[in-house]
Amino acid sequence: MNVSIPKHIDWRRWIKRWDRMQDFYIPARKERFEIIVQLIADSQKKVSRVLDVGCGTGSLMMPVLQEFPAAEVWGVDFDATLLALAQNRLSKFGGRVKLVRADLRKKGWTDIVSGPFDAIVSATALHWFSPAQLGRLYKQFAGILKPGGIFLNADHAGSCCKGIQQDWQNQRRLYTLNRKRNGVDDWDGFWRAYGQALKIDIAKFRKELMGSWVGSEQGQPLQWHFEKLKAGGFEAIDCFWRLEFDAIYGGIRK
Ligand SMILES: C[S@@+](CC[C@H](N)C(=O)[O-])C[C@H]1O[C@@H](n2cnc3c(N)ncnc32)[C@H](O)[C@@H]1O
Repeated sequence: MNVSIPKHIDWRRWIKRWDRMQDFYIPARKERFEIIVQLIADSQKKVSRVLDVGCGTGSLMMPVLQEFPAAEVWGVDFDATLLALAQNRLSKFGGRVKLVRADLRKKGWTDIVSGPFDAIVSATALHWFSPAQLGRLYKQFAGILKPGGIFLNADHAGSCCKGIQQDWQNQRRLYTLNRKRNGVDDWDGFWRAYGQALKIDIAKFRKELMGSWVGSEQGQPLQWHFEKLKAGGFEAIDCFWRLEFDAIYGGIRK
């Protein structure tokens, strides 16, 4: 379904609503972005090209653009309605921002972005993929990273022990999700309201875009990611931060 995005809506308001909604679900979201930026700086001598996969509204691209003023920052996402928010959020960075609409499940997306990259980053997006798709993606990331380049992902990474996973989810509910929303949208509420503002049938649009859900809300365990990253051509693979069933993990391209 092709959508036409209106030019004159209050973009700043919708960017804010997206961030407040995501901040509600994802504890320490800003801190995650800061850690990713710091790890890029610590591991790379020079940063001239960074890619954010599943960039959505450009929330992680923003601190990367701020921290590395000489870098070109690419963002790939398949959702035109979120890319419109990214475009508006990041317009002040001019030609350093490259937004690409592509489906990461389909062959050929790596030909559209112009690597090699010093870093590939992602936030809360890769758990949308099936284990087979994600294993393929790790190989593709290695293919467009320069040797010595870094991959970093902040996302759900669950436990293979059911009891531990349940405990982490209970803690998340207790300390974050159960607090008062104070007018913050939930996921469905954001999409309903944003769809109305865009004047598109958002449920139909999103259903066609995503197809059936093949991801995992709790994410694959870290050990799984480590094995797939190693098989994909990464070394110095590690977990750099963890909170309950969320982690920042990644590795260096051999
Ligand atoms: C929860 S959002 C996170 C967005 C952004 N990284 C952030 O932290 O605000 C997940 C993102 O992954 C994108 N995504 C999911 N599956 C995708 C696919 N197959 N191809 C491209 N983007 C995808 C979605 O469109 C969405 O923007």
